[in-house]
Amino acid sequence: MKTVSNLADLRASLDELRQGGRTVAFVPTMGNLHEGHMRLITEAHKNADIVVASIFVNPTQFGENEDLSGYPRTLEEDKKKLIAEGCQLLYTPNTADMYPEPDLTRVDVKHITTLHCGASRPGHFVGVATIVLKLFNQVRPDVAVFGLKDFQQFKVLELMVQNLFLPIRMIGVDTGRADDGLAHSSRNNYLTADERERAPALNRILRDTAAAIQSGEHSFAQLTRQAKERLTEAGFTPDYFNISRRLDLEPAGDDDRELVILAAAFLGRARLIDNIQVDR
Ligand code: PAF
Repeated sequence: MKTVSNLADLRASLDELRQGGRTVAFVPTMGNLHEGHMRLITEAHKNADIVVASIFVNPTQFGENEDLSGYPRTLEEDKKKLIAEGCQLLYTPNTADMYPEPDLTRVDVKHITTLHCGASRPGHFVGVATIVLKLFNQVRPDVAVFGLKDFQQFKVLELMVQNLFLPIRMIGVDTGRADDGLAHSSRNNYLTADERERAPALNRILRDTAAAIQSGEHSFAQLTRQAKERLTEAGFTPDYFNISRRLDLEPAGDDDRELVILAAAFLGRARLIDNIQVDR
């Protein structure tokens, strides 16, 4: 695997790798790679000839009181994992190059970005959409692969691709989990041993709520209240727990059949998110 850190080297390497019309699948990441990311690389291999990953801890998607400076940076371990998965090219740009002065442009996907995580993290999705569009313009992939743990992020980026006519096929990959159901996440590193034991409750409560909906329960307000109470009992501070339409992430109504339940909750220092799709 070759590692490049500036645009000129990225373009030169991509020109070489693309020879003969080979297609490129792109996996953007912020590093601190875990099994969940490796699933993305595996899926990328299935959908293109060449797999390119990026590692960039994007400052514009962190709020003022969030964990930008403490975000785990583990480049050497990350490289080993990418090599083991057969990633051909790693791009590790720096902040000055990604946000050259005058830095005056942002990508704002409207409305959907104000719901769920967007309500608790104002500006977060503007940062995400901006950096992903920059990376897409630099890498020009045929296919881009993202994890569905960040379900709202995937929907926002799908809309961006659609609204801006980007010639990129978006692939969402199911969340990788530990045996006890906890979604793989870099933020799990912040959990103490006791919190790690409690953490699977988030997925358990999502699954129980999904099962209740499937068995005919349709008082979504009550299900939401119960879920938040259970989260609190398990030691979490719930941020949101929303039963939503899968299409546009608006609150689900009685007639909606394709749903997604989205949840975020603090456990100690970690803000964990997870979701589950439900058909009824
Ligand atoms: O999901 C992530 O790791 C980040 O939000 C992304 C898509 C790499 C943009 O910085």
